[in-house]
Amino acid sequence: MEKTVLPQGYVGRKSRLPFLVKVLLLSSLASLSFFSYTLFNFPGWHRGSRVPPHAAEIQARCRGLNTRPGPPSHFHDRTVSDRFVEGTSHVWIRNATIWTGRVQGLEVIQGDVFLMNGIIRATGHVDLQSMGLSLDRDEIETLDAHGAFVTPGIVDLHSHMGVDSSPFLDGAQDINSRHGPIVSWLRSIDGLNTHDAAFELATAGGVTTSLILPGSANAIGGEAYVIKPRQTKERSPTSLLVEPPFGLNSSHINHDIPPRWRHLKHACGENPARFYSATRMDTVWADREAYNEARKVKEAQDAYCDNALAGRWEGLGNFPEELKWEQLVEVLRGRVKVQTHCYEATDFDGFIRLSQEFKFPVAAFHHAHEAYLVPDLLKKTYGGTPAIAMFASFSRYKREAFRHSQFAPKILNDAGIPVIMKSDHPGIVSRWLLHEAQQAHYYGLAEAAALSSVISTPAQTLGLDHRIGFIQRGYDADVVVWDRHPLSLGATPNQVFIDGIAQFDRPHTIAKPVSALKAPKTPDFSQEVTAAIEYEGLPPLREKESTPQTILFTNLTNAWIRTGNKVHTIFNDLTSATERARHGVIGVRGGNIVCVSAEQCEAFGSLVSRIVDLEGGAIQPGLVTYGSNLGLQEIAMEKSTVDGPVLDPLTHAIPKVLGEEAIIRAVDGLQYQTRNALLAYRAGITSGIVPPTNSGGFLSGLSVKFSTSALHKLGPGAVIRDVVALHISIGKGAQVSTSTQIALLRRLLDGDVKGEVGHWFKHVRRGKVRLVVDVESADIMATLLSLKAEVEHKIFTETNHHHELKLTFSGATEAHILARELRHAKVGVLVHPRPYPYSWDSRRIIPGPPLTPQDFVSYLISQGIEVGLMPQGIGERDMDGWAAQNLRFDAGWIHKISNGRVSKVQALEIASTNIDSLLGLDSEGVDAGALVVTKGGDLLDFEGKVVAILQKELGFVHLFE
Ligand SMILES: *[C@@H]1O[C@H](CO)[C@@H](O)[C@H](O)[C@H]1NC(C)=O
Ligand SMILES: *[C@@H]1O[C@H](CO)[C@@H](O)[C@H](O)[C@H]1NC(C)=O
Ligand SMILES: *[C@@H]1O[C@H](CO)[C@@H](O)[C@H](O)[C@H]1NC(C)=O
Repeated sequence: MEKTVLPQGYVGRKSRLPFLVKVLLLSSLASLSFFSYTLFNFPGWHRGSRVPPHAAEIQARCRGLNTRPGPPSHFHDRTVSDRFVEGTSHVWIRNATIWTGRVQGLEVIQGDVFLMNGIIRATGHVDLQSMGLSLDRDEIETLDAHGAFVTPGIVDLHSHMGVDSSPFLDGAQDINSRHGPIVSWLRSIDGLNTHDAAFELATAGGVTTSLILPGSANAIGGEAYVIKPRQTKERSPTSLLVEPPFGLNSSHINHDIPPRWRHLKHACGENPARFYSATRMDTVWADREAYNEARKVKEAQDAYCDNALAGRWEGLGNFPEELKWEQLVEVLRGRVKVQTHCYEATDFDGFIRLSQEFKFPVAAFHHAHEAYLVPDLLKKTYGGTPAIAMFASFSRYKREAFRHSQFAPKILNDAGIPVIMKSDHPGIVSRWLLHEAQQAHYYGLAEAAALSSVISTPAQTLGLDHRIGFIQRGYDADVVVWDRHPLSLGATPNQVFIDGIAQFDRPHTIAKPVSALKAPKTPDFSQEVTAAIEYEGLPPLREKESTPQTILFTNLTNAWIRTGNKVHTIFNDLTSATERARHGVIGVRGGNIVCVSAEQCEAFGSLVSRIVDLEGGAIQPGLVTYGSNLGLQEIAMEKSTVDGPVLDPLTHAIPKVLGEEAIIRAVDGLQYQTRNALLAYRAGITSGIVPPTNSGGFLSGLSVKFSTSALHKLGPGAVIRDVVALHISIGKGAQVSTSTQIALLRRLLDGDVKGEVGHWFKHVRRGKVRLVVDVESADIMATLLSLKAEVEHKIFTETNHHHELKLTFSGATEAHILARELRHAKVGVLVHPRPYPYSWDSRRIIPGPPLTPQDFVSYLISQGIEVGLMPQGIGERDMDGWAAQNLRFDAGWIHKISNGRVSKVQALEIASTNIDSLLGLDSEGVDAGALVVTKGGDLLDFEGKVVAILQKELGFVHLFE
């Protein structure tokens, strides 16, 4: 009977269902006794009728239970995007160099891109007539790209925009639930703050799609959602979503069309364990226990559906469901992209066993610092090899990231594993995600793979490669017009389109010659790659050789040296081969430059022990790092590897035995040969300055200047200056009020505090030692400037002598608001190159092009303010030691983005001499000797590689090749 009533052809046709059900009910009723009639009407009891009222729907659901998610088959015939905004004009981007993302990222075409109805309507040669359009009649905006690079929008596979909002405010922290290791039922969309400053900034970096993940404090943190960061008329989180799962806002689901991909956040290793005072073993058990619950539900569903589809309704009851396990059941059905935060071999192994035990595929392992060491293990994942989503250089902040290698993207790509660079915003600020791909490219990832790593590969991993990640007819109109090749340092969008809508009304562009269309020619790192694998991520980092002998460096393009606190040019821009052969020669002996030019160096002919062709390279002063805890720590999050925080007089009881007025000196906590320091040295950062660690308190102590290459503190040149400056921090959100912090500073500067603290502040008062204040807010900086004037005036009335209180601000994200006042007060600043509104105190930023005409640093310089550069990290001093090695790229970035306003010499100065002078080291001879030799380019680009460092004071050259 069942077979005839519900043949295949009928089910699923909703229009016929009521009729069929009616027929069914009537025919059953006719033969029913009174007794069974009563039973039939009893809710939930279908025995009497045998077939439940919604049988067809249930069967449709059962049939669709394992349908693979994906677009409907006719998707590519669409002529209008589901995200199209009425009134958007057509856009004709003409004469572009188009990287399409196709053919494994190898296809580049010359021509046009036509955007219409929110989708890409045509590429290459655009024929308006064939589209039934005309320039005179239709509203078409044209953009002449003048040959510039155009790519699909950037896709950020790992972002916390909206759930870990900026500026940081307690009221908008919706990233980690504290309700247990398993909270798979939570959804990031439910906490999405549409006022996060990150959205607009991300689009300014070319980001057009982001996966918003819950945090990693839970073993299963909840469902993640794909959004586009453009503003919508509706202003709702829902309106940002890209292909949200059916059923998100309705309980009616059409089971006859394929579902959409869903995303689930998993985490292994330290984070969930740390958060729940548990162990890795607990986390894996929590996962297994949860999946076992889901498996029971799934099996019940499958058994139910076997019966329902066979029409065996007797005693079946309702479709078995549990809202709580619904996401995990979908995982087991292979319909969820499992995005797993997982760092090291142990954790991959555990998770891959989990995937095999419960039979579900894994979309990507995120962070995955050790993935490059275990490619064969990754390939054992159930359902196929996951993608690896990682950082370029952000690493070593915790144990499980200690074996990171910047060559990992290359190694994984060579092993055939999909490579994705991701932000973990606000870890790496999403706006600068492309910079991660640029670094990966510098360290060996091929051009096509590097571009794909932030565009097409994440689109594939999201299961959205039918509409994003490629420039192709029918795809979403998300495209970026770049000012130069996207893998070049400083690449900036000239315009960004999302759903065909230009994101910037009047973008500020950096004029650039179209010649910058080639990717940088990156160095050869093959030896380093081999060593990274051979030594399981901990290869020796010291120089290959240290020699006092005579070495001839030839074929140089630039030579700059340091004299005092200035950088001087010996020669620059030797572009022709003959010029370089004649002038681009430098002889070195005992670590000292002894001749410049081929002619001069001829005299040393017989002494020369080796000749190094620098292939257009350079000699430049060693850079100075300030702004992280480099020198005081190895693994930031491992207490036993760091010097640790000082006791703050405002918030701690200082032990009597230490003396209430003790001051801490960083020199006493120095560590040498840390991996961060050695990597920094290999990147041309020859010295560092670090104050004692002050975790959110007021008084830090006395900084030290140290060598990044010395073997230990007692080695030659290890401590360059034992006391540099006195450091304090002032900011909102501390345990005591800002005004209390200022009151303490006033008292200290009055000169009547005793002990060591009093002693050092007396030095500050007399202008003998520089006071460095960590401060972000313009309001607090203004208060400090008046306090400076107040103290100077007081001293003048008391002594009739003018003493200048020497003050430097570090952080100073809002410094531009006080530019004039800072210049008047002769207060310089130590700043990060790319300001970001992490906190309320730093919320007013100069974001730079395309949002503002000038970038922050070149603006400050143009205002006559002395600027020193701190490396761009994650905005937390005690976590940023890894970033020290990137100072060269940060300085180079300023040079590029300033469009010539900041010369190469100035760029070198803000990363070396200016740092010394802003910290009060203005005498000559302080580390003036270290010079860095680069091959293929200089420190300020993605082409130069450090091959030697001249240590004049020590009398030798360190060679790295
Ligand atoms: C495209 O732009 C380049 C660079 O400005 C220019 O040389 C070329 O002539 C342009 N081609 C067309 C077809 O406009
Ligand atoms: C619910 O989702 C559908 C499909 O994504 C969408 O069209 C609709 O606007 C959404 N409704 C609300 C209230 O957000
Ligand atoms: C000098 O450098 C260039 C690359 O800039 C390279 O092509 C050339 O082979 C190098 N050597 C000589 C002797 O020109």
